[in-house]
Amino acid sequence: MIAALILAWVSATTATSVVRPPQPRETLLVDTRVPVLVGDEWMIMSQEEHQRHLRKREESDGGEITTTITVETSTATASPTTTTYVSSPLPSPFDTAIASNFSSSDGDGCADFINDLLVNPDFKSCYAFSMLIQGSNSFFQAEKSLVSITQVLDATCNGPNVTFCTKYMNDAAKNLTDSSNCATDFELENSLVVQVYAGLKAYQPMYSASCLKTADTSAYCFANAVTNRSALADVYLYYLPLNISYPNSTVPNCNECTRSTMGIFQAATADRDAYIANTYADAADTINAECGVSYVNATLPQARVSNAATSVAQAPPLLLLLSFGFMVFSHWIL
Ligand SMILES: *[C@@H]1O[C@H](CO)[C@@H](O)[C@H](O)[C@H]1NC(C)=O
Ligand SMILES: *[C@@H]1O[C@H](CO)[C@@H](O)[C@H](O)[C@H]1NC(C)=O
Ligand SMILES: *[C@@H]1O[C@H](CO)[C@@H](O)[C@H](O)[C@H]1NC(C)=O
Ligand SMILES: *[C@@H]1O[C@H](CO)[C@@H](O)[C@H](O)[C@H]1NC(C)=O
Ligand SMILES: *[C@@H]1O[C@H](CO)[C@@H](O)[C@H](O)[C@H]1NC(C)=O
Ligand SMILES: *[C@@H]1O[C@H](CO)[C@@H](O)[C@H](O)[C@H]1NC(C)=O
Ligand SMILES: *[C@@H]1O[C@H](CO)[C@@H](O)[C@H](O)[C@H]1NC(C)=O
Repeated sequence: MIAALILAWVSATTATSVVRPPQPRETLLVDTRVPVLVGDEWMIMSQEEHQRHLRKREESDGGEITTTITVETSTATASPTTTTYVSSPLPSPFDTAIASNFSSSDGDGCADFINDLLVNPDFKSCYAFSMLIQGSNSFFQAEKSLVSITQVLDATCNGPNVTFCTKYMNDAAKNLTDSSNCATDFELENSLVVQVYAGLKAYQPMYSASCLKTADTSAYCFANAVTNRSALADVYLYYLPLNISYPNSTVPNCNECTRSTMGIFQAATADRDAYIANTYADAADTINAECGVSYVNATLPQARVSNAATSVAQAPPLLLLLSFGFMVFSHWIL
């Protein structure tokens, strides 16, 4: 079986179109690494390492038939309804050069499906945090400044209709695994396809987590995690719903952001099919080892039958937290 190699290139030039506001000096990001799937293992790589890795892969595939196609990802311009100061284009999902090896048995179906999804107006209106955190170079750039990442989080949190988007993303994930779309590539664990699927499925808990703010500064927890050198370990938390384990060597910050983020994720594990149900318990153990027994709740709630999945999934973050007994912390969550 000769599988045609298709390299899906997404022009990295879109990344440079992010016009960044002036950056305060103290908010420069020191960690710009990305999780990259190498074989069966996730490795955290710098942008340069990632590029080298992609080049090496291309070279080692040199003898095979290679078709290069361009995945058009127009710049997302979701305009949040409640903010007025976002004038520059917002980061767009999967704009980084991901060499994707689509299996020939899906034909062009899979590449077409992902292309169509990324430009779909409904998809764009949801402006999903879960689709940005992996594979978006423009999002990376935005992470370097507290001002720009805050603008992005304002857009992911305040614009979308979460009820609509949760259903939309779930439907899209289901469609992705359809045999006319990406079924084969998904089974072969094509890393782009797996990332897209994970991002779609993880929409709701990641939406809630990305919207958490701290009481004292009213800064987004995520913004603090990526811009504050002493909070960097907290960034790993946000990858848990994407089936990326919390490195057990990570020293977590024992703060309310960690606790509330884990509270949201714990609730989400009621859907045992969700990736978070795989990754949550180990992360909770690692955090409790550092922060104290029961700092976060390491026990998974009762499994929810999948048909009931939407009722909790649609609750806004505050309600979700209240309903799981986090009233103590509600005063610092908007
Ligand atoms: C591409 O996919 C084919 C078949 O699925 C596999 O044999 C090959 O090793 C893959 N190449 C890369 C670079 O992943
Ligand atoms: C949000 O989406 C749901 C489902 O599509 C819809 O019933 C509801 O009216 C929408 N809410 C707003 C404020 O647009
Ligand atoms: C999923 O596929 C169905 C049937 O083709 C289509 O009607 C629906 O719009 C698709 N939904 C998404 C979110 O892709
Ligand atoms: C950075 O993070 C540390 C640890 O969470 C916290 O104590 C500190 O206040 C944060 N600094 C800023 C500027 O947010
Ligand atoms: C999720 O991660 C676990 C542990 O790394 C792995 O065994 C499993 O295959 C992953 N699931 C998917 C669907 O990738
Ligand atoms: C961390 O995880 C690895 C692999 O899962 C395991 O071999 C190692 O013992 C763990 N270390 C600690 C301190 O738990
Ligand atoms: C932890 O979560 C479980 C399942 O939701 C719940 O039964 C238990 O009471 C919680 N424990 C604490 C200390 O909140």
